[in-house]
Amino acid sequence: MRLLSRFLLLLFLIATTHLAHAGEGMWLPLLLKALNEEEMQSMGMKMTAEDIYSVNQGSLKDAIVHFGGFCTGEIISDQGLLLTNHHCGYGQIQQHTTLENNYLEDGFWAMTRGEEKANPGLYAKFIERIEDVTAAALQGVTETMSKEERQSTIDKNLAALEKSVARRAHEEVAIRPFFKGNQYFAFITVTYPDVRLVGAPPSSIGKFGADTDNWVWPRHTGDFSLFRVYAGPDNLPAEYSENNVPLKPKHHLPVSLDGVAPDDFTLIFGFPGRTNEYLPSYAIDQLMHLEDPAKIAVRDAALKVLDAAMKADPAVKIKYASKFASIANYWKKWIGEVQGLERSGGLARKQAYEAEFAQRLQNNPSLQTKYGGILADMRRLYTERKDLVAPRAYYGETTRNVELLRLAGLFDRLVGIYEANGEAGFQNFKARLLPYLEGQLKNYDPAVDQQVFAKLLALYELRVPATYRPAFKREPWEAQASKLYEKTRLNNLADITKLLEAKPEDAVEKILDDPAYKFYKSLAAPYDERVAKTYGELDNVINDNMRQYMAAQMAAFPERTFYPDANSTLRVGYGQVNGYEPRDGVTYQHVTHLDGVMEKYVPDDYEFDVPEKLQALYAAKDYGRYADANGKMPVCFIGTNHTTGGNSGSPAIDAHGNLIGLNFDRAWEGTMSDYNYDVSICRNIMVDARYVLFIIDKYAGAGHLVEEMTLVHPKTAAAQKPDTAVVPEASKKAKKKLKRRKRNK
Ligand code: ARG
Ligand code: GLU
Repeated sequence: MRLLSRFLLLLFLIATTHLAHAGEGMWLPLLLKALNEEEMQSMGMKMTAEDIYSVNQGSLKDAIVHFGGFCTGEIISDQGLLLTNHHCGYGQIQQHTTLENNYLEDGFWAMTRGEEKANPGLYAKFIERIEDVTAAALQGVTETMSKEERQSTIDKNLAALEKSVARRAHEEVAIRPFFKGNQYFAFITVTYPDVRLVGAPPSSIGKFGADTDNWVWPRHTGDFSLFRVYAGPDNLPAEYSENNVPLKPKHHLPVSLDGVAPDDFTLIFGFPGRTNEYLPSYAIDQLMHLEDPAKIAVRDAALKVLDAAMKADPAVKIKYASKFASIANYWKKWIGEVQGLERSGGLARKQAYEAEFAQRLQNNPSLQTKYGGILADMRRLYTERKDLVAPRAYYGETTRNVELLRLAGLFDRLVGIYEANGEAGFQNFKARLLPYLEGQLKNYDPAVDQQVFAKLLALYELRVPATYRPAFKREPWEAQASKLYEKTRLNNLADITKLLEAKPEDAVEKILDDPAYKFYKSLAAPYDERVAKTYGELDNVINDNMRQYMAAQMAAFPERTFYPDANSTLRVGYGQVNGYEPRDGVTYQHVTHLDGVMEKYVPDDYEFDVPEKLQALYAAKDYGRYADANGKMPVCFIGTNHTTGGNSGSPAIDAHGNLIGLNFDRAWEGTMSDYNYDVSICRNIMVDARYVLFIIDKYAGAGHLVEEMTLVHPKTAAAQKPDTAVVPEASKKAKKKLKRRKRNK
């Protein structure tokens, strides 16, 4: 009986593994025509692949930028106006904030071009075109080469390619591996270094709900900010200058006033950072049972200390708010990830997939000969690294979250550079180190850090086996911490500055003698020797195997359309507006409203305060043309688009190519989509474009910015005049084909 039910479960898992997942995938724009166009149209898209990505004419991709290399932004006017998230522009908003002009707290709105604020270091990178350079990159590579030979051949090929790819003077080229090194694509880009801050709502709108609501649906955050890309008078990239003018983009996204309804087609265009969808089950097993729990445990302990200290002292609260938020961000994400993998049977799904993979190899002698041993190899490699996974996570998180240890790590780099490159290297690194330390120590409280040290080291002693760590003293950690923090000179800016002013050899001697440095080295030595080294060697082999396992999966499942893992390159995700069921008996709607902001309102709370003006607009229902058909003010909505970190600020685009929202987060239950997307619980969270317009226009009185946008009514237009953009035959054919595909799986 038990055997039978397990067999049935396996069958079910195999069946569901191969269902088409409308929503899964981060696709390469230049392959949409070949791989996705039909499916996209069958899901309601009225555009062609060429409308999204074209090298011959203006297309949607010409409105998308990599914002500073860490977020996405999009151009929404013919004068270079750029929309991204509040949390993406946060650093810039903070930089311009002073006590008199508290832009973080009160918001900022440039009422004229002259008031727009320059941001040295920030850039907007456009993608000119993408080329498949696989053949040239892999030229001369053979199956029998060692992995070192293979890599050096490829490195030479890439270096030659980077020089030979045709490009204009202001263009750059970057070549990146895809599918674990089985394919290579070149990105020809244009980078604009003059990007100015135009507008930001107060944090009580742009960061409403802060950490409590982070990763959570239902959500009520107006997470947006506005910038403007400037160019030289020739419209080409130019460093900041008063003579620069607003960029005239090849394309800007029109903004829809018609909003969304369930099942509406949505497209997310942006720069997702990193995913790992093709790992073997052994990797997922270690992720959810060893790595994530270790990282969560360390951050848990650190956050508890910070939380108590912040509650006890308002000055600490100000200093540590941003650090707390950044530690809490991934702490919360990992908790959701583990629970999601558990609830959705992510591990069992991978195992069922591997059983099917093995079966398919059995049925195909040539694949069996080539790849027959791969899973067994992987299993052995992962078993070999198993004991190292948690110690590695404990070390990484402890040396990151104890600020004194992080500082000691930086000084260790300085020492290393001095030993390798002498005085010149020392001065060079010092010049970069000092301003960085100034920033770090501005918001530093040694008493708080000392408590974090005591808690995290106690945990380290408890959880990391003795072979991988030093023999610690028997003294309680509080006492050890208090001595260490009393004696060290590495966490005080005045001391550090003085120390670094000395002759390099004297400075290095002082560093080597510092108790915090010594403690750091005593922790690092057994870790480097017995954890990092072996782990790194195994990882190299695993990565090479992963390349082969990826190729094997693509060969064994020829009917399946594969998308490459995210690697911070431009991708298209598509899905539909849709609610979900996070738990038994609970159903989530697809949209939230301003009513919900008022429901969450807690006067003067740092997370849930609501500006008076917004309350007044709500009381008067003064929403102008931005309200929904039901008279309510929409705030956020969710969809099945596959997104990850880096997709923040990505536009949500409707079936016709208009902006309907701004991506900024994912729903907690589905954060395991980085490893195992599941359409039943994976949702991305977007701000409704109408809320953005409403805040700019009605709340901030910056209607001149709305004036420069192109506002459209795609749904109303479609209702009045049947849409002619669709080729009806093509879309009928696409629908049929999709049905057929689903049936065959
Ligand atoms: N969870 C979002 C993302 O990963 C938003 C993070 C910023 N917001 C915050 N409350 N920490 O990056
Ligand atoms: N907030 C994330 C970012 O900064 C996006 C959320 C996600 O990881 O999907 O990119």
